[in-house]
Amino acid sequence: MEKMWAGRFAKSLDKLADDFTSSIHFDCRMFRQDIRGSIEHAVMLGKQGIISTDDAKRITDELSSILSQLESGELEFDMECEDIHMFIEKILTERIGDAGKKLHTARSRNDQVALDIRMYLRDETNEIIVLLKNLISTITEKAEEHKASIMPGYTHLQRAQPVTFGHHLMAYAMMFLRDISRLRDAVKRMNMSPIGCCALAGTTYDTDRDYEASALGFDGIVQNSMDGVSDRDFCIELLSAYSTIMMHLSRFSEEIILWSSWEFKFIELDDSYTTGSSIMPQKKNPDMAELVRGKTGRVYGNLMGTLTMLKGLPLAYNKDMQEDKEAIFDSIDTVKVCLRVFTPMIAAMQVLTDNMFKAAQKGFINATDLADYLVKKGMPFRSAYKIVGEIVAECISKSIVLEEMTLDEYKKHSELFDDDLYGEIDLVNCVEKRISKGSTSVSSVEQQIEYVTEALEND
Ligand code: ARG
Repeated sequence: MEKMWAGRFAKSLDKLADDFTSSIHFDCRMFRQDIRGSIEHAVMLGKQGIISTDDAKRITDELSSILSQLESGELEFDMECEDIHMFIEKILTERIGDAGKKLHTARSRNDQVALDIRMYLRDETNEIIVLLKNLISTITEKAEEHKASIMPGYTHLQRAQPVTFGHHLMAYAMMFLRDISRLRDAVKRMNMSPIGCCALAGTTYDTDRDYEASALGFDGIVQNSMDGVSDRDFCIELLSAYSTIMMHLSRFSEEIILWSSWEFKFIELDDSYTTGSSIMPQKKNPDMAELVRGKTGRVYGNLMGTLTMLKGLPLAYNKDMQEDKEAIFDSIDTVKVCLRVFTPMIAAMQVLTDNMFKAAQKGFINATDLADYLVKKGMPFRSAYKIVGEIVAECISKSIVLEEMTLDEYKKHSELFDDDLYGEIDLVNCVEKRISKGSTSVSSVEQQIEYVTEALEND
């Protein structure tokens, strides 16, 4: 196929070189944004008298029908075209002739692609936000159900203090809430229109960039035309926010994998979100969680790849920048598919509260509460801490837990111990006594659920 820019060349492009530079097989997914941008560009050209209003109307009408034909599948992408921008312009010109050839006045593919990708990322990020909201709602529902289910809280993966499963889950709700705010932040900075920057230096036509920007839902225009066509900071920011979402999903996945192991058995994943083994008949594997954890690597890789691609690029546009798209498209697809699988997996999982409670009964996770008991009776914390350490050592040597030590034995360590100590180290009490804001008690977890629910409603 003859290239639009063939005029300056004596020879046609080598076939392999043509395939190598072509981007239509991946940028075709921006067809809606490309057409929408072109429609407003034509309207602006007509409004400014740069082309006739008749031509502008012919262009916008035909672009609208190209859009619906692409949506319905009636029109197919021509993979011989260099990119989506060339394809749409080619179809338009084939259909309406000279009027179509006027669309690219006061525009370059450099500002066009910068516009399309911003609009595409805006749309996709909104979809990701909806998926995150679904996940957060699912988490808060589970947390509400389990606001009083006691489990061991861990540090260093060693049993540390009793917490509730609801409290543990709400920690993830907070992370995903921050992820939404990170995405909104990045979109706010991205939402400036580059269209009208043209190739790099602006244009001699009396264009109206502000009109195009507001018609396309932007908050303003990029102020420097060289920056407008060179900037891919927004890709970096979004790739970083997507990476953080994956990091959170991956930590959550890791816990799902641990909790569903026989060693923990805190949860049972639903059959519809687990797989079997081809040789070991007993196996029920948490593949979804493992894949989410695994796919985190590629999203990090896309961020690194894009940062490295941009490093050292001189101004303004360079073809290297075409590489931004596959990286960010892959990250978007990955984040979306992971959220789509992860959320119903969490909703369907069975929580084995008895096992969680049993695990909480071992491992001296009420030792801090025993030390606090002595502190409340007047002993300095460091002394109490030392005495409880010695009591724990004695229990371990006798293969018993704190609840099983007799009062006489306790009294040998300190005269301050009395019968009321057993109430203080009761696990339910340990949780309920945690009255500081953000802590693990039922009422505190309820406040956290309320906070997150309100944040979701106000977003
Ligand atoms: N396919 C190109 C890209 O994705 C569009 C811009 C091409 N501009 C140019 N001057 N070759 O970056």
